[in-house]
Amino acid sequence: MNRIEIVPSILSADAGRLAEQVQEAERAGADRIQVDVMDGHFVPNLTFGPLVVEAVRRVTKLPIEAHLMVFRPELFIEAFVKSGATLIEVQVEATTSLYRLVMRINELGAKAGVAINPATSVETLREILPYITTVNVMTVEPGFGGQKFIPHSPEKIRRLRAISPDVEIEVDGGIDASTAPVVVKAGATVLVAGSAVFGHKQGIAAGIAAIRKAVA
Ligand code: DX5
Repeated sequence: MNRIEIVPSILSADAGRLAEQVQEAERAGADRIQVDVMDGHFVPNLTFGPLVVEAVRRVTKLPIEAHLMVFRPELFIEAFVKSGATLIEVQVEATTSLYRLVMRINELGAKAGVAINPATSVETLREILPYITTVNVMTVEPGFGGQKFIPHSPEKIRRLRAISPDVEIEVDGGIDASTAPVVVKAGATVLVAGSAVFGHKQGIAAGIAAIRKAVA
C-alpha cells in the first residue's frame, strides 16, 4: 500500500508563530504543508495569499500545496507557483474551464490537483483525471477548520478509487486519529489535518504522531 502522507494545513496554526509551527511540524514528520487559500466569496472566509506561501517556503524544505478555495483561480495560479507552491489544487465548482486551468498549472511546472466539495459527485472528475495528480475529497464543507467529518465521505472515496486506481486521493476536513483509519481503509493516502495537528492538546508532534499511529 502507498505510504500515507500527513499534510498539516496552516489555517489552524498560530499565525503569529507560523514559521516556528511549520518547522515543528516538519521536525515531527509532516510530509507536506497545505496553505488553505480562501477569497471570502467561494467560501465565507478570507485567509492567505502568495506572500504567505513565500514565507513558508523560506522556513521549510517540505513541499507546499496551495488549496485555492477561490473563484477565478486562473487569476492566481501563476503567483502561487512563483511563490513556491508545487501542487496547486483548484475547486471543480469554482471554474467553467477546468481543463484549461489544469493544463495551465501543468504548463507552469506545478502538479495539478482538483478539490471537490461534499455535494459534488466524483463522476464529474472522470474526464480530467488523466491530467491531474491529486483529487482532494473535501470531507467538510470548506471554509473553516475544526468542523465535523461528513459521514458519507468514505463511500465517496471508494467510488473515486473504483474510477481511478492510480490518482492520489487526499482528504481534507475533520481528519484526526479517529477518522484517519476510516478514510485510509476507503482508499485515501494523503491526509490534510489542521486542528488535529495545530490544535492538539499535547502539541504539534503529538498531533502528527497520533494520526501516524492510527493509520500504521
Ligand atoms: C477548509 C480548510 C480545512 C482545513 C482542515 O475548510 O482548508 O479543511 O484544511 O481543517 P481541520 O483539519 O481542522 O478540519
